[in-house]
Amino acid sequence: MTLSRPAPIPVAPALPDFAQIEPIGRCNLACRMCTVNDRGDTVGELPFEQFAAILAQLPQLKRLHLQGLGEPMLHPRFFDMVALAARQGIDVSTNTNLTLLTEARARRCVTSGLRSLSVSLDGASAAVYESIRVGASFDKVVRNLGRLMAARTAADSPLHVRGVMVLMRRNLSELPPLIRLLHDHGVHELLVQRLSSDLTQPDLPARYIPIQRYCDTAELTPADLRHAEAVFAQARAQAAALRFTLHLPRLTAPTPTPDAATGPPPRCNWPSEQLYLTAAGEMLPCCMVATADRATLGNVLNGAPRQAPADPADPAEPAKPDVAGVWAGARAQAFRTALESDTPPAVCQSCALYRGTF
Ligand SMILES: C[S@@+](CC[C@H](N)C(=O)[O-])C[C@H]1O[C@@H](n2cnc3c(N)ncnc32)[C@H](O)[C@@H]1O
Ligand code: SF4
Ligand code: SF4
Repeated sequence: MTLSRPAPIPVAPALPDFAQIEPIGRCNLACRMCTVNDRGDTVGELPFEQFAAILAQLPQLKRLHLQGLGEPMLHPRFFDMVALAARQGIDVSTNTNLTLLTEARARRCVTSGLRSLSVSLDGASAAVYESIRVGASFDKVVRNLGRLMAARTAADSPLHVRGVMVLMRRNLSELPPLIRLLHDHGVHELLVQRLSSDLTQPDLPARYIPIQRYCDTAELTPADLRHAEAVFAQARAQAAALRFTLHLPRLTAPTPTPDAATGPPPRCNWPSEQLYLTAAGEMLPCCMVATADRATLGNVLNGAPRQAPADPADPAEPAKPDVAGVWAGARAQAFRTALESDTPPAVCQSCALYRGTF
């Protein structure tokens, strides 16, 4: 997803062909930058039958990312969900911390119809990785990566596997060795991303303040830029030599071009082009929001507004919302309208994508 300046973003667009659905909202780890264990919204486990009912409401769907905030492989029917969507011709992808990958799950990764699997690895050494991914064992995860790639080879499977790294001051220097580690395991792609938000939104629930403080100390500072540029240069050269696909984030926010300076600034079109549901049925504007207590467009399962609107002028959702009803509902329209305006929703003001650095 990128920032763009298209014609005005429609406030009630057609249902999109891409959706992200969270199968389960809890995790076995406590990564330092992740809000999963502090979320104040309902921590759901989406029943398989409700997942199937949601899919039936999305006949236009072409791509499904089956992951939200939580570890998808904790859901007892995760691979049944993958298989159901794949049988309907949908491209299914997911992210995993890879800590729960048994031999049996490795086989299901390559037999369920899963198209793409992103493996989160925030370090190339046990010390750095385990200091970020609290509760995980680096050695076991590396073993599991070997297990996954062996199952892929044994099945001659086209499953696309890539690494994902959240770049922070603490793991910056681990980038080149991580490329080497992935390459040595037969993985030829790495997506490096920045922290999604500095969590400075003015109405941030207080329970997120410790994570906000962590993100504040973890995020690269201007003083890190020279070192970061050198590490990126080394990583690019290494990737080229290994024929490895490397996606690096911006180190600084883009400076406006002369044309952009005279025109309106680019806007995020995520809430109009991609649909996001938590395991409890909350439709969020995007994956960067991650929890419904930071912003929600309404609930597609329980038929009731999550909470009474603070402002009587902000209408509640209809009594029995479904996916299309919430997608086109008053809250969704109000969010998209605010995002187009000069005063975006509070949650967007602290978003790395909105700032152009993600
Ligand atoms: C929330 S996790 C859920 C899937 C799975 N548990 C995992 O770790 O891959 C999805 C991705 O978000 C990343 N992530 C977590 N907190 C983040 C943050 N504050 N900023 C950017 N990415 C983050 C994780 O590293 C992971 O790659
Ligand atoms: S990043 Fe993934 S593995 Fe880590 S705590 Fe969050 S949901 Fe769990
Ligand atoms: S938080 Fe706002 S700006 Fe960021 S991705 Fe979501 S909708 Fe777009």
